[in-house]
Amino acid sequence: MTDPVPDPVPDPDPLISAAIAARAHAFAPFSKFPVGAAIEDTDGRIHTGCNVENATYGLTLCAERVAVFKAISEGVRKFRRVAVAADTGTLTPPCGACRQILWEFCGDVEITLVNLHGKTETYRLKDLFPKPFDVSFL
Ligand code: THU
Repeated sequence: MTDPVPDPVPDPDPLISAAIAARAHAFAPFSKFPVGAAIEDTDGRIHTGCNVENATYGLTLCAERVAVFKAISEGVRKFRRVAVAADTGTLTPPCGACRQILWEFCGDVEITLVNLHGKTETYRLKDLFPKPFDVSFL
């Protein structure tokens, strides 16, 4: 009789796996710093992004903004959680521009930073971006 095939280990957090997988698609020939992001909407669907660099440098889009814009472009408007994956010991947080975009489209979401060794830290966006400018001022 053959040995039983073990059940696959359940994915502890598919959002984190999605962010790590998205990082593999990064277009980062200039910085060589690939980043992946994944956003979970309120229906539980996951939208991913990676950084996409540009020869002019300034037109580069971070992974977080690519993920948000992809989701928005598909009609999604409500989000629950974000994960950001990079290969750094000190976990990579979203840049200022991405914090602004995340705030405007996702509000005070939970953000989990992760590296390739499984280290994670989870924040509320409000704590990373404490005094935001947004549509409430207009
Ligand atoms: N980057 C991201 O995609 N997300 C972050 O949270 C930090 C920085 C990208 C932008 C650029 O392509 C590269 O990382 C180096 O800054």
